[in-house]
Amino acid sequence: MLSLALIIATAVAFHSLVYAAVVPSPRPLVIWHGLGDSHSSPGMVEFGDMIKEVHPGIFIHSVYIDKDLDADRKAGFYGNVDEQVALVAEQLSSIPELQEGFDAIGFSQGGQFLRAYVERYNSPKMHNLITFGSQHMGISDIPLCARFDFLCQVARRATKAAVYGDWAQQNLIQAQYFRNPSAYPTYLRANHFLASINNERPEERNVTYAHNLASLNKLVLVVFTEDRTVVPKESSWFGSEAIPDDMQFAVQQPFVGDKAIIPMRLQPLYTEDWIGLRKLDERGDVVLESCQGEHMQLGGCWERLVRSFVGHN
Ligand SMILES: *[C@@H]1O[C@H](CO)[C@@H](O)[C@H](O)[C@H]1NC(C)=O
Repeated sequence: MLSLALIIATAVAFHSLVYAAVVPSPRPLVIWHGLGDSHSSPGMVEFGDMIKEVHPGIFIHSVYIDKDLDADRKAGFYGNVDEQVALVAEQLSSIPELQEGFDAIGFSQGGQFLRAYVERYNSPKMHNLITFGSQHMGISDIPLCARFDFLCQVARRATKAAVYGDWAQQNLIQAQYFRNPSAYPTYLRANHFLASINNERPEERNVTYAHNLASLNKLVLVVFTEDRTVVPKESSWFGSEAIPDDMQFAVQQPFVGDKAIIPMRLQPLYTEDWIGLRKLDERGDVVLESCQGEHMQLGGCWERLVRSFVGHN
């Protein structure tokens, strides 16, 4: 009996060896968390575990600005995004498991930061990028405060008033993707992050950004149908409130409150293809998806997307 068991065990072991040699392990995954979260919060760890159930054996790296969880959380609010993306590029290039390429998932602001990585660095190379509720065309309002949260309201007003000042642009993360449609020229002059990765300044357009973004296999853009945190929520699909230059299109568009929303395919960024998005879309590789619910309610929709767009070689 004992020897039979041993033989079976050996056969099984041999079989899995052969199997392992034939079936490559899943493509690795990089995740960048959202605002208010950290690289290893309970929610992030749980999400990683759920992905490992879908793709057994997958290598996952959760991006960090600081290994310390509190400091990492703080870095979501305060710091310089250009520097953070540069730091992450260095981090990814130092991880052996990622050197043959990886898929990536960005939560909320982590989504546009990963897109900046692709455009500016992309070494090692990203394969598929999924962004959940990200602010690709920025936000045109700072999220509202609770009714009697006066401290929040004061801070919010101060941020809005000084958002294009030097200090805010160097130190407040949200200011670096705040795109105020009624102060567009000021935004264009002062903003060094979003205006840069969207190639909005004609004299600074960088063809490398477009080349790199178009080299993605798939760009999966997920909007949350009831998102009230991201204003406007269409930013997750490269939509934005009309700026004065867009008014020729605005009249044909549905209004949200008193604001006209310009969808991706009518944005000059798209029609003139400043960042390779149109090229990617015309190839059929921009996937517009939606999840039911408020900002980052992933419950009913992450699994299907992770099955389709993560881990395949
Ligand atoms: C364009 O972007 C690439 C990648 O980040 C960079 O190496 C290059 O210096 C940039 N070119 C210009 C003209 O700024």
